[in-house]
Amino acid sequence: MTPRDPDLEDKRDDDDDDDDRVVFRVAATPADLLKVMGVRGIVFHDEQGVSWEDEFDADDAGAVHVVGEADGQPVASGRLQVMEGGWAKLGRIAVREQWRGRGYAHGMVGALLQEAHTRGVTKLKLHAQVYLEDFYAGYGFARRGGVFDECGIDHILMTREGG
Ligand SMILES: CC(C)(COP(=O)(O)OP(=O)(O)OC[C@H]1O[C@@H](n2cnc3c(N)ncnc32)[C@H](O)[C@@H]1OP(=O)(O)O)[C@@H](O)C(=O)NCCC(=O)NCCS
Repeated sequence: MTPRDPDLEDKRDDDDDDDDRVVFRVAATPADLLKVMGVRGIVFHDEQGVSWEDEFDADDAGAVHVVGEADGQPVASGRLQVMEGGWAKLGRIAVREQWRGRGYAHGMVGALLQEAHTRGVTKLKLHAQVYLEDFYAGYGFARRGGVFDECGIDHILMTREGG
């Protein structure tokens, strides 16, 4: 067997598509949760100006948290709150700035929808930042009502029924 050429392996790694390396998984350990909260602190607090009090709210305790990791870094966050009556709420979807534009938000939404499906959820809702209405509409979410302020940012309610 030909010995491995470390230089060649390095080149192959460099040529890899970054999208292939991202992994989305439910936060299962305290370390995972810290990664989720770290991404949220960077994106929602540092970048978007959301206060710490608003960002880390009481709903975190009972929620399912998903972390996205790429290049050995925590790069994406998402939260699923399973509620009564078959409803669940998606939220806290964020991708750190330098990893954007690679489809990681699509990956995160897919992971959250899969978690919802696994839990028997049939009705979904989210508070979308207004600029992302088309993005969520692409997943079958429909706008309900007008714009409202949440954490100092314009949002709309969007829902999707039927799984
Ligand atoms: C919104 C955000 C999660 C997108 O992350 P991303 O990894 O760059 O997104 P993707 O590459 O997976 O692209 C997903 C879609 O998002 C939409 N999108 C991303 N940035 C956008 C922008 N600035 N304006 C409008 N739509 C945008 C596009 O529809 C895109 O889909 P397409 O590439 O198929 O057209 C990221 O910019 C972010 O964390 N923003 C700050 C936090 C935030 O606003 N979170 C959403 C709360 S509702």
